[in-house]
Amino acid sequence: MSLKVVIIGGGSSYTPEIIEGFISRYESFPVSELSLVDIESGRGKLEIVGALARRMINKSGYPIKLSWTLNRKEALQNADFVTTQIRVGGLKAREKDEKIPLTHGVIGQETNGPGGIFKALRTIPVLLDISRDIHDICPGAWLINFTNPAGIVTEALLKYSLHKKVVGVCNIPINMKNSVAEMMNVEAKHVEIEFIGMNHFVFGRKVCVKGIDRTEEVLDKLIHNEVDYSPANIISLGWSKEFIQSINLLPNPYHQYYFQTEDVLAKDLKAFAENGTRAEIVKEVEKELFVKYQEEQLQEKPKELEKRGGAYYSDAACSLMNSIYNDKGDIQTVNILNQGAITGLPHDSVIEVNAVITKVGPKPITIGELPLSVRGIIQQMKAFEQLVIEAAISGEYLKAYQAMIMNPFVRNEKKAKIILDELLEAHKDYLPQFHTK
Ligand code: G6P
Repeated sequence: MSLKVVIIGGGSSYTPEIIEGFISRYESFPVSELSLVDIESGRGKLEIVGALARRMINKSGYPIKLSWTLNRKEALQNADFVTTQIRVGGLKAREKDEKIPLTHGVIGQETNGPGGIFKALRTIPVLLDISRDIHDICPGAWLINFTNPAGIVTEALLKYSLHKKVVGVCNIPINMKNSVAEMMNVEAKHVEIEFIGMNHFVFGRKVCVKGIDRTEEVLDKLIHNEVDYSPANIISLGWSKEFIQSINLLPNPYHQYYFQTEDVLAKDLKAFAENGTRAEIVKEVEKELFVKYQEEQLQEKPKELEKRGGAYYSDAACSLMNSIYNDKGDIQTVNILNQGAITGLPHDSVIEVNAVITKVGPKPITIGELPLSVRGIIQQMKAFEQLVIEAAISGEYLKAYQAMIMNPFVRNEKKAKIILDELLEAHKDYLPQFHTK
């Protein structure tokens, strides 16, 4: 039986991760055909990554037919799963997303701050285009999105695309689970965290180890800095006892931007002065990675890939595809439509929660009411996300302004306009919806 996976953004430095994920799961998820797709400007990287992927597959000995191409429509023929990992405008655009707000004393942040808004504005139209092709060419395929901002992009797809087989994934819940497992000295499969919220704004409400509630112990370890589940792109500042005790939830690493804003801004400004923004650091890491990827003797994912914040994302993506394919009925954390799982958030909005994964897709596990301590901010963030999506679709200046002013890092009406205008100008080549009226 054939099983075809198409990776859009195949030239990404992350691709060896997902190749490794397919190889290690081959016995239960026997990919027969793999196609890596990229665009003209990514041709060089695609060829390097493609050649490495070929060496990895050859070493595995599995009969996976691999190809790489710039022709998306052709690649999509007969696809069963399509993953999307694109960066519209590349790292150059990310650098602007991070830098411009910082020059006005505001955290840029490529997924959560003004940077995240602009990443969404650039990305949503492109992904809608891709999903249109999927709907026309391989309507039965599942679109697994990890393009950031993953929650916002997934919601835009589920609201505005005809293709409804869409699920978003992120590595943060997996990182949290793995770190808790390490701290509790058990295998990750014995840890269950009940996640509530949205992508990069998700909290852990309950932690069970081998079926026993160990939430209090984990929260205590967080207070004492005995567990750190931050990805490579975030340096943890720790959490105060009062904060953790009062919310009584596990924050995710991105929460530092919201609850330690001034400290993070100071940290970002210092890092910016010393080494540039994260985008500039990532450019260097990528350079090294691509030199490494070209070593003929390299036949596996190199350790150096762990310097990227998205390390291990393939675990989320591959486990999800595996469970859909095998109709497993296990529980995974995904970005899907709320449909009433969380009271107080719109039914048609996307949330990041645990879901039962079967061949008909994920079904969210009911959460009910959000804890009062974080209800307000989660609702605000959801409204913010909706505004970003509406701005991306309509290209309306005032919608984009609303999103900017609603972002908790900005909250200054004059700065919101300055940052918005500068970013709109800086990214005008990628924002036709705002510039062709
Ligand atoms: C985290 C996030 C990802 C994000 C990545 C950035 O892991 O969950 O969504 O893409 O960090 O990492 P980078 O190495 O690009 O800064």
